[in-house]
Amino acid sequence: MVKVAVLGYGTVGTGVVEVIHANRELLKERIGQPIDVKYILVRREIPDCSVWEKLTQDFEKILADPEISIVAEVMGGIEPAFTYAKRCLEAGKSVVTSNKELVAKHGDELIALAQKRQVQFLFEGSVAGGIPVIRTLHGCLTGDAVTEIVGILNGTTNYMMTNMFQNGADYAEVLAEAQEHGYAERNPEADVEGYDACRKIAILTSLVSGKKADFEEIYCEGITRITTDDMKYAKQMGKTIKLLAIMKKEEDGTYQVKVAPFLLDAGHPLYSVDGVFNSVLIRGNMVGEVMLYGKGAGKLPTASAVVADLVEAARHPAKSVMPVWSGEKLSLQEAKKARHRFFLRLKTEGMTKDHLERMLGEGTEVTAGIPGETGFVTKEMTEEDFEKAIAEAEQEILSVIRVEESPAI
Ligand SMILES: NC(=O)c1ccc[n+]([C@@H]2O[C@H](COP(=O)([O-])OP(=O)(O)OC[C@H]3O[C@@H](n4cnc5c(N)ncnc54)[C@H](OP(=O)(O)O)[C@@H]3O)[C@@H](O)[C@H]2O)c1
Repeated sequence: MVKVAVLGYGTVGTGVVEVIHANRELLKERIGQPIDVKYILVRREIPDCSVWEKLTQDFEKILADPEISIVAEVMGGIEPAFTYAKRCLEAGKSVVTSNKELVAKHGDELIALAQKRQVQFLFEGSVAGGIPVIRTLHGCLTGDAVTEIVGILNGTTNYMMTNMFQNGADYAEVLAEAQEHGYAERNPEADVEGYDACRKIAILTSLVSGKKADFEEIYCEGITRITTDDMKYAKQMGKTIKLLAIMKKEEDGTYQVKVAPFLLDAGHPLYSVDGVFNSVLIRGNMVGEVMLYGKGAGKLPTASAVVADLVEAARHPAKSVMPVWSGEKLSLQEAKKARHRFFLRLKTEGMTKDHLERMLGEGTEVTAGIPGETGFVTKEMTEEDFEKAIAEAEQEILSVIRVEESPAI
């Protein structure tokens, strides 16, 4: 019998207990022995709990119990999650987690510690919830050099962008609606400012490069400035706007990593990923394009990923099978060197296409029937050149959105 402890009994924690209970026969077959949750760590009384006999508020009891070989950390946040994970690994227990904050900040240390103790530190649920992206990169695509990842990694913002695009609703309206449906937190900052997607692309970049991508150094822009007027132009151009998390390996070996809203053409594989769904487009140098799609969050999809890690850890009690990256810092491409086409909206008083082209070079003018302004899509240029060009603009710039090109398939 494999005995595990679950730290935290919230959305994901209750899901983990439910999946283990619902699929117990199947899991027994797959592991070769039954799996049972012996403890659930909570920090307050939970009245009328159906698993009351497993609840404990004493982490030391879990740590000291030699029967517990695997611990699922699903509390979230950095502390005490980091200390608990570290102490469990030091005590020779495998740790699995869905906590992207923990993995993005301390993944390298926890991986090194797990390797030293020959136990597992697994984190499939930390990126894109139920979508098996970590195992795909670490396992299935291990024969490839992964050169590009383009992901919709945050369901909340994708729900909001979809609603703004399809229904013409404005930002404040869709945020309030997302909060009402429970898709957005009362404090939505981590989602709408792009921080959540940024941690996830940092984890995927670390996995692909083998070095630590520091999420605090990644260019990160959220969706708070996107308006219904931007969406009108997008429609006019046969495009939509999505918050993308991007990693591209450049020819000089540096990595361009970025989170920002992008215009996507109708032919782009991520164009139709709508609502709370997530998707990841991966390009390998041998396999070409691979796309994963599914539920990037939610109780059961995330718990499914956590339980898959529990099974993996149970199957390999004394051999490290986990994804690896070192503590060496990955050098990221300077943000100003990244090349894109840029879409911008600006006030038109006294403005002609000649003016626009003198300022920005050749490009395409776009109108969306909004009086007093126009839109323009530049040719490809660096962020630095674009910044210089618009610094000289006499007209007020109303918005700037990058264009993500469709892959040539
Ligand atoms: N929800 C999702 O769809 C989803 C998807 C992917 C990844 N994740 C990640 O999974 C983790 C858990 O998310 P969640 O949505 O399940 O959060 P949640 O619903 O807030 O649950 C977290 C639980 O952990 C408990 N907890 C916090 N600190 C604790 C401590 N020191 N001791 C014992 N219990 C403690 C909380 O207790 P209280 O109830 O007392 O506050 C709460 O019940 C986070 O890292 C999150 O980013 C979540």
